[in-house]
Amino acid sequence: MQLLQIIEKHGRQPEDLISILLDYQACKTDNYISEDDVKMLARQLNLTESRIYSVLTFYTLLSTKPRGKYVVQVCNDVPCYVKGSVNVLKILEKTLGIQEGETTADGVFTLEFTSCLGCCDKAPAMRIGGQLYGNLDEGKIGEIIAKYRGQ
Ligand code: FES
Repeated sequence: MQLLQIIEKHGRQPEDLISILLDYQACKTDNYISEDDVKMLARQLNLTESRIYSVLTFYTLLSTKPRGKYVVQVCNDVPCYVKGSVNVLKILEKTLGIQEGETTADGVFTLEFTSCLGCCDKAPAMRIGGQLYGNLDEGKIGEIIAKYRGQ
């Protein structure tokens, strides 16, 4: 879906900005909002570029850097840290063959640490796209990643 179609779908009010950014990012193969995108959005929505960047840099689902098709975000806030988020990250690094902050060579996965995902009762947790996964262990992580590799 093109940017103009997405804007028409959501509207041109300032409160529509997050939905527009999320939808537009999701339809891009490199999964991020570029500098050129920000300029275009500012023109189309009659907003300042700094207003758009303030939203882009606040929401962890949005990015200003190219990322893989699937962004694997491991929660590293206290409840998840206590329940082993560092170990979850190590398992993911081994499974995907990349370090935190990197993207796989095939452009499929990006691995990131993030703040609380809102499911602390299921710590340790991670999010891939908009999907949350909790109570993670090595077996469960392997199954989840295999499912995404198969898509
Ligand atoms: S601390 Fe990890 S989900 Fe809340």
